[in-house]
Amino acid sequence: MTKQNFFLLSSIAFLLIFSSCKKDEITTDALYIPTASDVTANATLEELQQGRTLYINNCGACHNLYSPDSYTPSRWQSILSSMVPRTNLSTADASLVSKYVSRGK
Ligand code: HEC
Repeated sequence: MTKQNFFLLSSIAFLLIFSSCKKDEITTDALYIPTASDVTANATLEELQQGRTLYINNCGACHNLYSPDSYTPSRWQSILSSMVPRTNLSTADASLVSKYVSRGK
C-alpha cells in the first residue's frame, strides 16, 4: 500500500466512524416547532410549545438533542424513564417534554 492510499483509507474510515456517531443528533433549529396540526386530544399547542422549550433547556446538557422523529412514541417513553431522573424536571414538566417528543401521543 502506498502512503497516499493509506492516507485516503484512513480518512474514509475516520469519516465513517465520526458520521455514524452523530447521525441522530441535531441542532436546536432543526427541532420541529409545534403547529396546530400537531395538536391531539392529549396535547394542546401551548403544552407542545412548552414541552419543546423544556426539552431544549433540560435535555441537551450531556449530549446533543435527538430529533423527536428518531424514535417511536413508545420508545420515547422508555428513554424518558431513564433520562428524566438525570434532570431536575418536575413530573409535570417531564410530562410536557414527553408530549413534545412523542408529538402529543
Ligand atoms: C446527566 C446527563 C444526561 C441528561 C441531563 C440527559 N441525558 Fe440523555 N443520555 C445520557 C447518556 C449518558 C446517554 C447514553 C446512553 C445511556 O447512558 O443510557 C444518553 C442517551 C440518550 C438518548 C439515546 C438513547 C438511545 O437508546 O439511543 C436519548 C434519545 C436521550 N438520551 C434523551 C434525553 C432526554 C429526552 C433528556 C431530557 C429529559 C436527556 N436525554 C437528558 C445522559 C443524559
